[in-house]
Amino acid sequence: MPSNAHFYQPAQGHGLAHDPFNAIVGPRPIGWISSRDRAGVLNLAPYSFFNAFNYVPPIIGFASVGYKDSVRNIEQTGMFCWNLATRALAEQMNASCAAVDPDVDEFRLAGLTPAESQVVDVPHVAEAQVAFECKLTQLIRLETAGGDAVDTWLTLGEVVAVHIDQALLVDGVYQTAAAKPILRGGGPADYFQIDAANAFKMFRPGA
Ligand SMILES: Cc1cc2nc3c(=O)[nH]c(=O)nc-3n(C[C@H](O)[C@H](O)[C@H](O)COP(=O)(O)O)c2cc1C
Repeated sequence: MPSNAHFYQPAQGHGLAHDPFNAIVGPRPIGWISSRDRAGVLNLAPYSFFNAFNYVPPIIGFASVGYKDSVRNIEQTGMFCWNLATRALAEQMNASCAAVDPDVDEFRLAGLTPAESQVVDVPHVAEAQVAFECKLTQLIRLETAGGDAVDTWLTLGEVVAVHIDQALLVDGVYQTAAAKPILRGGGPADYFQIDAANAFKMFRPGA
């Protein structure tokens, strides 16, 4: 690290034109989450504080900054779906993030089709090339280092069913780049697209 590196402590401000945090921890995969409230109203929203956390069983999670409709629905029903956000669905994914009343169905808002799921009673996005059906495992309210509660909710779920478009499977191997997944960068509008040209291989030591 050069001696003139920009240094800051987030609690005291970053001192830059824009907070660099999201741009540094990026690009992030997108948790495009569908859920349903107790009354049956569908919900769809993107979350880029998202990742996978376990292989067996597969567990994914996203963080809602504020107790948003997705979290409320998932707490009520114990289930949700994850949908792969791709370049072809970027506009629809973006449209689904609109801050609308809880009784607005973002599938309809974004012009997407709800497809019935097999295991959980929450639809996934029919147009998505991959979808996971998930059951809530933990809902964790985040805390500061000092133990103060933060209004951010980490929602973790076990993936109990997986749907993959056959077009993404070659000889039984899933082709990550084939779907052209999109990831979120920093700033108000930065995204990245996964392309096969950017891939490289590196095996673990001893592998
Ligand atoms: C690409 C993208 C990523 C987002 N990531 C997050 C996130 O990680 N956490 C969050 O709270 N909101 C995030 N948002 C904003 C939510 O999608 C937005 O607040 C949405 O209205 C929440 O919907 P809901 O209240 O129906 O759950 C993101 C928006 C976009 C477009």
